[in-house]
Amino acid sequence: MTEPAPPISKIKTLYDVYYSFRPNKPTFLPEDYPDLTGKTAIVTGCNTGIGYFVMKLLYSKNCNVIAVVRTESKGIEAREKVLEEIKESNGSISVVGGCDLLDMTSIKPAADKVKQALGDKPLNIIIHNAGLLSSSNDGFSKQGVEPMFSTNVMGPQLLQHFLDPLFLKKDSDLKRIVWVSSGAHLVAFSQYGINWENPGFINVPLDKRPEYKTLYGQSKAANILQAKAWYTKNQKIADEIGCVSVSCYPGNLKSEISRDFGTISRFVIMSLCWDVIYGAYSELYAALSPDLTAKDQGAYVVPFGEVQDPRNDLKVGLTNGSDLKLFEMVEDMIKDYF
Ligand SMILES: NC(=O)c1ccc[n+]([C@@H]2O[C@H](COP(=O)([O-])OP(=O)(O)OC[C@H]3O[C@@H](n4cnc5c(N)ncnc54)[C@H](OP(=O)(O)O)[C@@H]3O)[C@@H](O)[C@H]2O)c1
Repeated sequence: MTEPAPPISKIKTLYDVYYSFRPNKPTFLPEDYPDLTGKTAIVTGCNTGIGYFVMKLLYSKNCNVIAVVRTESKGIEAREKVLEEIKESNGSISVVGGCDLLDMTSIKPAADKVKQALGDKPLNIIIHNAGLLSSSNDGFSKQGVEPMFSTNVMGPQLLQHFLDPLFLKKDSDLKRIVWVSSGAHLVAFSQYGINWENPGFINVPLDKRPEYKTLYGQSKAANILQAKAWYTKNQKIADEIGCVSVSCYPGNLKSEISRDFGTISRFVIMSLCWDVIYGAYSELYAALSPDLTAKDQGAYVVPFGEVQDPRNDLKVGLTNGSDLKLFEMVEDMIKDYF
């Protein structure tokens, strides 16, 4: 850790919780999106949930979408559904299956397939949307890591490692990376959200793990740090090509993410949440809005498309090197799979 984190502000936390259930209305809507003819976007986890609507809206704006999913057949099914619903588009949807963020060895082969699907087209947008919220809080990734840290943090950073050479090119005026985070970062560990000694809870028995909310919160705090750290690591070229890297809390939505909650909890969650498409509005504000420029590196986009501060210690962590420290720790955990 760089320096002890400042105490968490209870007033800001209360405001953030209130805002998460009563966010401002979206103001950047599909009719405001630019035409994306000739542009390419990678969206992970778009066979369902928020990612599905992100894929559909991008395609409706003539974007070439590369859908990176775990199960190819689910990706193809989702593509067929979009093609059925959007009859007119100059874009395309290519499905790359086999990208399992719980197994680091699957990511390079998937990235190789992305390279093939991309061909010589520019890569404009990368949305690290796939994510896991596991209330059962059990098991380990293939590499022995706590599953939410593997899926939400290590996997996206490893995929990004392989995408960097395809993305970091001066070939277009639109270059964005969106690291999908969550308001759940509010319940992450007190020191910049991270359990610095062992964020992946490697070799920690299941009964010694913190509760699932803290672990999910940690992974989503890490996404906020990754967005800024990726920029800092690639600052020179990112500035040259005009790339903006941001995190995004899409909102509290009626998606499948709470699938393993009990019936009553799920009923309560669903009654408080918004239709899934609103999450796509947030992510597509982060990916497309002209409001976001070089001054917004590492910005935290909240529902349904505006920038606010994350938890106050994380805000500090974006400027005192904690972001880079986390990025380097993750780099160390994934480097064997480069
Ligand atoms: N819904 C909310 O209220 C909410 C709130 C805040 C943040 N978010 C974030 O928004 C993002 C999208 O969530 P969602 O609500 O759309 O959830 P969802 O409906 O559960 O969709 C999650 C997607 O991630 C994929 N995924 C999960 N584990 C994976 C793995 N190991 N390898 C590859 N892909 C994997 C899933 O693929 P499979 O179908 O193969 O499982 C699915 O496509 C996540 O990052 C989530 O943390 C959601």
